[in-house]
Amino acid sequence: VYRWDPSDGKNPRIDTFEVDMDNCGPKVLDILFKIKNEIDPSLTFRRSCAHGVCGSCAMNVDGINTLACIKSHSDINGDLNVYPLPHLKVVKDLIGDLSNLYKQYELIHPWLKVDQTGEEKKELKQSQKDREKLDGYYECILCACCSTSCPSYWWNGEKYLGPAVLLQAYRWIIDSRDEERKARLKKVSDELKLYRCHTILNCTNACPKGLNP
Ligand code: SF4
Ligand code: FES
Repeated sequence: VYRWDPSDGKNPRIDTFEVDMDNCGPKVLDILFKIKNEIDPSLTFRRSCAHGVCGSCAMNVDGINTLACIKSHSDINGDLNVYPLPHLKVVKDLIGDLSNLYKQYELIHPWLKVDQTGEEKKELKQSQKDREKLDGYYECILCACCSTSCPSYWWNGEKYLGPAVLLQAYRWIIDSRDEERKARLKKVSDELKLYRCHTILNCTNACPKGLNP
């Protein structure tokens, strides 16, 4: 397990733990909890739902970005190597700093834009067919497994929006109820924000929700 504590002034290190798997749940998150509860309470990682819904527990397990709460230990042969998501500044141990990604997410205005000036707000209807266009996009949990597996995002992450944010941008662009499609397209249609995508497709391989960012 990758360890780094910014407050101790020491270099990062790798710690090795032995865990009795006969007394531990099957997921990587269970193993991390067992280490934290029984061996080293200072081990630091993010998690919330433990059911692949919140995206908090994204990390790199044996070289693959994934969610620790859905990755089963039985998928892995031998020792388990656990690192934070790649190419992020590390906050502590397994926690990567996602502030840049969140800033970029904010930039695409991830909410429905409809001009409703009247006193009474109207229900916004959507046909079943138009609703289906959001399939494959609304399921994104913003875990960042895709963006942090993307070489273009590694080298140009300050300017290129990366697969996670571009998928989210598209989710609002194709929403039939939204009235800002043109402005949204204009906002992302930029040499760096969008066209730094070189269709390497690491993003799609990495997505633990099976999406195609
Ligand atoms: Fe995570 Fe997949 Fe969304 Fe990327 S597209 S942020 S990998 S859920
Ligand atoms: Fe929520 Fe893993 S803890 S996705």
